[in-house]
Amino acid sequence: MDKRIIIDQLLKAPEALIDTTVNVKGWVRTKRGNKNVAFIALNDGSTINNIQIVVDIANFEEDQLRRITTGACISVDGLLVRSQGAGQSVEIQASKILIYGEADPETYPLQKKGHSMEFLREIGHLRIRTNTFGAVCRIRHQMSYAIHTFFHQKGFFYFHTPLITASDCEGAGDMFQVTTLNLNDLPRKEDGSIDYDQDFFGKPTSLTVSGQLEGELGATALGGIYTFGPTFRAENSNTPRHLAEFWMIEPEMAFYDLDDLTAIEEEFIKFCVKWALDNCKDDLEFLNKMIDKGLIERLQSVIATDFVRLPYTEGIRILEEAVAKGHKFEFPVSWGIDLASEHERYLVEQHFKRPVIMIDYPKEIKAFYMKQNDDGRTVQGTDVLFPQIGEIIGGSVREENYDKLMTRINELNIPMKDMWWYLDTRRYGSCPHAGFGLGFERLMLFVTGMANIRDVIPFPRTPKTAEF
Ligand code: 4AD
Ligand code: MG
Repeated sequence: MDKRIIIDQLLKAPEALIDTTVNVKGWVRTKRGNKNVAFIALNDGSTINNIQIVVDIANFEEDQLRRITTGACISVDGLLVRSQGAGQSVEIQASKILIYGEADPETYPLQKKGHSMEFLREIGHLRIRTNTFGAVCRIRHQMSYAIHTFFHQKGFFYFHTPLITASDCEGAGDMFQVTTLNLNDLPRKEDGSIDYDQDFFGKPTSLTVSGQLEGELGATALGGIYTFGPTFRAENSNTPRHLAEFWMIEPEMAFYDLDDLTAIEEEFIKFCVKWALDNCKDDLEFLNKMIDKGLIERLQSVIATDFVRLPYTEGIRILEEAVAKGHKFEFPVSWGIDLASEHERYLVEQHFKRPVIMIDYPKEIKAFYMKQNDDGRTVQGTDVLFPQIGEIIGGSVREENYDKLMTRINELNIPMKDMWWYLDTRRYGSCPHAGFGLGFERLMLFVTGMANIRDVIPFPRTPKTAEF
């Protein structure tokens, strides 16, 4: 007997296996008991739920049982029986136990008691073995699968854009440089500047902040594409919402206008949230109990409500009205400002009490590629703003007119030397198109109820942290 059954499968359909011998393998969560019997809660990562192993102490070596402690990895053969105790429907009466790896209780950091999130970040290599991070990782997987399913069902193609790039899509300059030059002995030109001809790619390159520009090339050939991959930003933002390495989903659609764009943004988020409710029930119930009591209700309410469409100008009017009525913001409100998160949260959490898709932003605060409105001062950008999270999606209709795009590029002094290929989309068969970027970890924050973005990715990268 040594044909392992995965605990999730066993617990989902135990009936057929009752009174047969099964084998399970996993890590000991707890061991308790008395002189005659020990109860081991075993978890193999496939589900938040443990299987209870009942050990008749008389049948086992004392030394072997002593070595089975929290964190140890074991293989158990035994009879699957209905459980007498409360809390589980079935349990295994152990007949044979093999210890793969012990976990010295003197030093193993994950003991029974609850640990703080800060402490768990310090042991990022082991925290995945906790209930909370197991749940987060399983939900992350389910959300990835939901994303591919959504776009696949719509006929979009998964399109791979490069991670190493020579262009700064967002124009914010927050890029990690990629080089093979020897930093202690940089090759110089006669004028003293660095000679990038000698660098690996023959020019300065960085890790990408967005796959959008290449995504637009895909959309103007394949119709509808999406990217889903890591993205890098060297902004020094030490907040619970920012990572230096995060995952982004960037769909890009030919022939979509502003209404089509906001419609798919809303549909996409609702699809993912509903997927979580339908497919991550046990993990969500755990998080609802342990992390955030309002979680499941909030997820249910989001899929049942219509998101507000709010022109920026109208949003500013609402905020100014709030100020006039005595509401205090840290940062002043006036037309043209880039909204601070306190402003976004006021609109979403206090004024509308539901998600808001803000549209038609001042062109000065948005990227060069956004489609310009006829008023000459706003662009068709869209930010989806969520309760507690703030901005979860940033997107826009793209400026497809070559002359207008070039004028904007010149106004902003964007170095377009290396961007001739992007401009070619507007020179040859240009078409109306639109797209957006969803921050995967921001979605994960919403779906899990976790408070800090460092706790929804297995190995977070933030300023001064690149452990594990
Ligand atoms: O608003 P952003 O900067 O938009 C773009 O990059 C566009 N090129 C997307 C597109 O239209 N294809 O970023 C998009 C989203 C944000 O709304 C946010 O959810 C997430 O990416 N994001 C971050 N998530 C975690 N850490 C950071 N430092 C993030 N910066 C942006
Ligand atoms: Mg943005």
